[in-house]
Amino acid sequence: MATELTIAVVGPAGLVGREILELLGQRQFPAGSIRLLGTHRTAGAEVELAGRKEKIALLTPQAFDGVELAFFAAGPGVAGEHAPRAAAAGAAVIDVSSRFRLDPEIPLVVPEVNVGKLGEWRERGIVASPSGTATALGVVLGALAAAGLRRVVVSSYQGVASAGRRAVGALSQETIDLLNARGVRRRPRFARRIAFNCVPQVGALEPGGSTTHELLVVEELRKLLDRPGLGMSVTAVRVPIFFGSAFSVNLESESPLGAAGATAILQRAPGILLHDEPGGSYPTPAEVAGSDATHVGRVRDDPSAEPPGLMLWIALDNVRKGTALNAVQIAEILARDHL
Ligand SMILES: NC(=O)c1ccc[n+]([C@@H]2O[C@H](COP(=O)([O-])OP(=O)(O)OC[C@H]3O[C@@H](n4cnc5c(N)ncnc54)[C@H](OP(=O)(O)O)[C@@H]3O)[C@@H](O)[C@H]2O)c1
Repeated sequence: MATELTIAVVGPAGLVGREILELLGQRQFPAGSIRLLGTHRTAGAEVELAGRKEKIALLTPQAFDGVELAFFAAGPGVAGEHAPRAAAAGAAVIDVSSRFRLDPEIPLVVPEVNVGKLGEWRERGIVASPSGTATALGVVLGALAAAGLRRVVVSSYQGVASAGRRAVGALSQETIDLLNARGVRRRPRFARRIAFNCVPQVGALEPGGSTTHELLVVEELRKLLDRPGLGMSVTAVRVPIFFGSAFSVNLESESPLGAAGATAILQRAPGILLHDEPGGSYPTPAEVAGSDATHVGRVRDDPSAEPPGLMLWIALDNVRKGTALNAVQIAEILARDHL
């Protein structure tokens, strides 16, 4: 195991970057020094790190000299340009953007699902972390996969934090404007007004009617579970909550799971917190914000499928386990076993 690593975090002032920094401190990650790399907007600003102040520096092509582990939390364009440079400079790169998720030479990893894939990280020096939706579904469906998953139908209810810090500000501003009876005064950040609304479009609409996000989630999940033929349809809906997301899932499998069997599996599964107390307990996004677990509830039979299927509900903090915690868990395993 490496002792103290030199680390870089690209995008330290964003929602995910800030959460990564907080988790590194909380989980006592063996970090020697941490290089914070941002844009002209934030370079020079100070960030509190383990009780001391660190300055954000400008991301440049030379910024990764001497870095052993680099978190990229700045979007696919930045990852496409700088992650290969960081890897060439010798860093193990963990990218949370969509840029490399479907690249066949780059492992897409959720430790609870396919930790063995991390062994392939050296091929390109980069590990990809999935979208929050694919991470949540991967943790739960990975636990149930032994039943032989055949078809999955998902509806998501996604808070605005999964679209970044400006989206959080936009929901806040729209809500204030509407409560003050001023109407929505600026161009909506989402496809439609988000305050007091639900928008069935996450990402751009593609020919055929699905969105880029929905199509990507299907492919990410197939890669994560190593089930290229998995039948799957996703409808992603943006809802006016800040942090947290939830998912309604209908599942058909080769050998019927049944609610009792699935409950027994999910109770033991790593990373999952099952809400199954009598009297109807279930998790909601607001209640699970800040939690490390993927929360599951409302596990029940679906008698409308042949053979009978399963229905369940998932809630998680999409910035935390959905993204930052998954990246930090990957880093912990790399630091322990590979660096
Ligand atoms: N939010 C989620 O729940 C979630 C879930 C899964 C995946 N992700 C992915 O995580 C990444 C970050 O998301 P976020 O929610 O943290 O977004 P965000 O709050 O908008 O933050 C984006 C960060 O990227 C930085 N950045 C942008 N362009 C840059 C450049 N050219 N050079 C250096 N830094 C640059 C920004 O720097 P400045 O601060 O200097 O402007 C900012 O800190 C995205 O790829 C997103 O798709 C997010």
